[in-house]
Amino acid sequence: MTITLAPMEGVVDVHMRDMLTRISGFDLCVTEFVRVSQVVAPAEWYFKYCPELKTDAKTRAGVPVHVQLMGGEAQVMGDNAAFAVELGATGIDLNFGCPAKTVNRHMAGAALLQWPEKLFEICSAVKKSLPASVPLSAKMRLGFEDKSLALDNARALQEAGAQKLTVHARTKLEGYKAPAHWEWIAKICEVVDIPVVANGEIWTPEDAQKCREISGCHDIMIGRGAIARPSLAREIKGGEFAQWAEMLGWLEIYCALMQDTKRPKWGEGRMKQWIKLLGRTYPEAKQLFDRIKPMKDPAAINAIVMNEAREVGICA
Ligand SMILES: Cc1cc2nc3c(=O)[nH]c(=O)nc-3n(C[C@H](O)[C@H](O)[C@H](O)COP(=O)(O)O)c2cc1C
Repeated sequence: MTITLAPMEGVVDVHMRDMLTRISGFDLCVTEFVRVSQVVAPAEWYFKYCPELKTDAKTRAGVPVHVQLMGGEAQVMGDNAAFAVELGATGIDLNFGCPAKTVNRHMAGAALLQWPEKLFEICSAVKKSLPASVPLSAKMRLGFEDKSLALDNARALQEAGAQKLTVHARTKLEGYKAPAHWEWIAKICEVVDIPVVANGEIWTPEDAQKCREISGCHDIMIGRGAIARPSLAREIKGGEFAQWAEMLGWLEIYCALMQDTKRPKWGEGRMKQWIKLLGRTYPEAKQLFDRIKPMKDPAAINAIVMNEAREVGICA
């Protein structure tokens, strides 16, 4: 079984990938989408979204990171994929699931699920532009407003040369509302031969098992569940749940990384965001969040986290 850390714009950046892959259990990461339209995006963009391109496209823990592209123009997508490979990308993923209105208005992300032929065109152009050694995957939702084209879309992506398909088991209209329709992933598995990765609403090891049973997939992708419960992938593979004391140790490292960034306001936002989401698993994180909520300075938040760590005896 492989477990992929889901791409999550504004959440899963280089630092979060670093933390979660060090906590372990993940086999692959996918970057936040790189939005491409009309031209080849500058190299800085690629390095911004995937600084790991400078380290063999792997996280510090050695887990590969693939670059996700999102756009609606086939040739431009192909040219961008080729450029990403020149910069060091070792795998390209295509986004056909983003529900954002501005993106969909410009015929990208989930909007494209209304036209299987368009998915085929984009995916074929990217496939042609890639060397055979660089794998191409695609990530789709079950549809835009309904699921009527789910199977056609999956088939189109396979025919166009996608070597793996991740399915977020909801339509764009269903947004992020539970449940995820894992039984639809099973229907997709019946019509394609490429590996299918199941995604959506995996929050616990039990969810992972149920999702694999219902979808029939070996492989899974986890998004929000990994942020709220960072040891989830490790647990699914038989490892230990991270107790709060361990989590505080990771939070300390994360806070130090955020403090080092040149954008303190951004660092403060990211720390609060993670600690808030951890509140889903750890009551201690909820209390910690209430304390740091009014704070504006990452150094002050760091001091509180270090103090907590000292109190539970994990800090020198
Ligand atoms: C804040 C946020 C940002 C996301 N950004 C992306 C993205 O950049 N690319 C993508 O393919 N999916 C993106 N997604 C969708 C996730 O990758 C995933 O498919 C979805 O959250 C369902 O999985 P989960 O229930 O495990 O979170 C995003 C989801 C969230 C909540």
